[in-house]
Amino acid sequence: MSSGWGRRSLAARLFAGQLLVIVAGSLTLALVALAIAPGLFRTHARQALTDLPPDVVRHLQQAFEDAILLALAIATIAALVTALAASWLLAQRLTRPIRTLGEAAQRIGGGGYQARVPMAAHGDELAALGRAFNQMAAALEATERHRRALLADLAHELRTPLATLEAYVEGLADGVVAADKEAWTVLQGELDRLRRLAEDLTAVSRAEEHQLDLRPRPVDPAVLVTRAIQAAEPAYAAKGVTLQASVDRRLAQVRVDVDRIGEVLANLLANALRHTPAGGRVEVTAQGRGDELELAVVDSGEGISPELLERVFERFFRVDPARSRDSGGSGLGLTITRAIIQAHGGRVWAESAGPGGGARFVVRLPAISTGAGGRPAQRAGGDGAR
Ligand SMILES: Nc1ncnc2c1ncn2[C@@H]1O[C@H](COP(=O)(O)OP(=O)(O)OP(=O)(O)O)[C@@H](O)[C@H]1O
Ligand SMILES: [Mg+2]
Repeated sequence: MSSGWGRRSLAARLFAGQLLVIVAGSLTLALVALAIAPGLFRTHARQALTDLPPDVVRHLQQAFEDAILLALAIATIAALVTALAASWLLAQRLTRPIRTLGEAAQRIGGGGYQARVPMAAHGDELAALGRAFNQMAAALEATERHRRALLADLAHELRTPLATLEAYVEGLADGVVAADKEAWTVLQGELDRLRRLAEDLTAVSRAEEHQLDLRPRPVDPAVLVTRAIQAAEPAYAAKGVTLQASVDRRLAQVRVDVDRIGEVLANLLANALRHTPAGGRVEVTAQGRGDELELAVVDSGEGISPELLERVFERFFRVDPARSRDSGGSGLGLTITRAIIQAHGGRVWAESAGPGGGARFVVRLPAISTGAGGRPAQRAGGDGAR
């Protein structure tokens, strides 16, 4: 539809509507006036003008009817001109913003996601439409930016393992690298990293599309902590970091997907271990905070600068990229963690006294009330599971 045609069409339709009203009104007026007025005139003329000759009375009656018709014709023409002008002005006022919206929508359709329509100062329906349009455009732009950033990050993440694999394969082919256990271990390590990256990316994209398939069931917080501690213990023992648990036994149950929350605690515990030197200490705590359950993983490790406390939850973010990559981290763990916790209606954040001051990762989950006083939770493998 061309915009000019659209404007004419709208103006024509508005005018046609008004024309109909004017014509119907004028015809009704003319019919009523011609049917009633001459009779009334004659009655009054007979009573008032008794001594006038009949041809003068006829003449007066003719003049009266002509005056009525002339007045009606002039009024109809004036109404038509006004209707035409009003239709044109209204059409102008309606079609300009609609045309702007159409052009902006076309630009967005062609990939120009930064297109916006000017915001009208007054608050009519068209202004509301413009506002809604701009909001939609901003959301589309953010999604597109997100998609591009993801692709750029992904390309960056793939480059390192691929370059290592390429160098090793070439070296093996040329006989420069010996086909020994060490070479196969490196190759296996890089392949593992690629596989983990693919798995984590699947998890992140599912989480970001809110497609995490949660299977919530009521569970004692102590059970969550015990399982996480048991799974992490061997790695902690191997590095020589102390792992402890402290669980309030009066805690109410929570309704969560046990496996997903297990994933969250496993990631927090793996991070704490990775960033805590041998001889350090990590503690998992579970306690009630009003209506919520608070799970926290506290370590005595290297800590996080205040300005990075929020950034560590960003996709692919690592404080020290080279080191984290060497230890296998893809920087997606906390992104997945946050998505899982948010899908449960909870929150997760990081606290730290800064570099060298250790870190505290806090998870808050809505608890289910189990009646007065709640009920005792199971022991978390003993308070202080290790
Ligand atoms: N307990 C911690 N102490 C200090 N820094 C931390 C701690 N936990 C996370 N970080 C920082 O946050 C970054 C992001 O953590 P995240 O779990 O998202 O990724 P990762 O552990 O590097 O990789 P992945 O979890 O995907 O294997 C880490 O690289 C690290 O720099
Ligand atoms: Mg991690």
